[in-house]
Amino acid sequence: MNTADALASSPFLQALAGQKPSRTPVWFMRQAGRSLPEYLKVREGIGMLESCQDADLITEITLQPVRRYGVDAAIFFSDIVLPLKAVGVDLEIKPGVGPVVADPVRTMADVEAIPDLTPEHVPYITEAVQNLTGELAGINGGTPLIGFAGAPFTVASYLVEGGPSKEYAKTKALMFGAPDVWDALMRKIAGISAAFLEVQVRAGASAVQLFDSWAGACTPADYERHVLPYSTEVMTRIGELGVPRIHFGVNSAMLLPLMGSAGAEVVGVDWRTPLDWAIDQLGDGFGVQGNLDPALVFAPTEIMLEQAGKIIETGRRAKGHVFNLGHGVIPTTDPDQLARLTEFVQSYPLD
Ligand code: CP3
Repeated sequence: MNTADALASSPFLQALAGQKPSRTPVWFMRQAGRSLPEYLKVREGIGMLESCQDADLITEITLQPVRRYGVDAAIFFSDIVLPLKAVGVDLEIKPGVGPVVADPVRTMADVEAIPDLTPEHVPYITEAVQNLTGELAGINGGTPLIGFAGAPFTVASYLVEGGPSKEYAKTKALMFGAPDVWDALMRKIAGISAAFLEVQVRAGASAVQLFDSWAGACTPADYERHVLPYSTEVMTRIGELGVPRIHFGVNSAMLLPLMGSAGAEVVGVDWRTPLDWAIDQLGDGFGVQGNLDPALVFAPTEIMLEQAGKIIETGRRAKGHVFNLGHGVIPTTDPDQLARLTEFVQSYPLD
């Protein structure tokens, strides 16, 4: 079987396409990372953003959870702020903190100083995706690669706040107080995120996920007016490449139909949101992804699996269902629990 045929029978891609796979596909947000001893080993002495610019390290780290768990998709190892770093924004990822930006963006001149992203800024991304799609074709009969980017609101929040935030006060001050600067900033990031995704798709990624992790900080009305148009721009550009699109946010219950309307085939559901309610909100037009509480992996195995079974049963009602956690893997997670969870989901009978 050649690569294209193998991927055509991928349960993950079938679920994204709204076909009914023979079993529920599963992968985990942040499946590569600190919960894996093999990750900590290869990252020793190497900074986070440095490792995201090394094609061999990206390839190795992306493959680690696929080898260990046999998950149904690989997610490209990078970060939502990597494209900003690549175009020259002065930022770092501080361990235990997150992205920190040296000179926060507040004015039109600040926005105009950020260059657009071209493939020449990220040659290591193209190289890593090409290496990965070659390797992944031979794993478990063909494992698809998910490309990803940060959505404009979430990326803007780091640029404007200068780092992680709880209230997004400066971000909202700009959104409401300087709509022209906000518009220019969101357009700029939409262009960068779309270009970053295009590089990954052109090099061979089979699907994309747009992470708008912090969009849940917006009311539906504010999201619709000040965020949705820019995420739609990203999704429209990727839609033209013909790959399926997943749109995910945390605390996003009130935003689910709007996030779907940005142009996604599948909407990621945060663990706080009852999956059956989310499916009703989204209607027949969308698949869903999620949504086990990442902390339930710390519960006794039978309790974790009981809840996972309920999620699989509920997911059958949706146009398509990809099993995942309802946010990223917690760094102290026991990988053996994720191995048991993967095995359980993949062997759960669907008829
Ligand atoms: O999912 C995967 O396995 C792919 C890799 C991935 C990373 N970041 C690697 C990473 C993905 C998809 C991301 C996306 C990302 N980055 C998001 C959206 C997803 C989400 O979690 O909501 C956000 C908000 C960021 C920004 C960011 N980068 C944060 C908040 C942190 C954590 C800071 C910390 O130390 O707790 C990072 C750093 C980061 N990105 C790590 C990893 C594996 C940990 C740093 C390390 O291993 O040294």
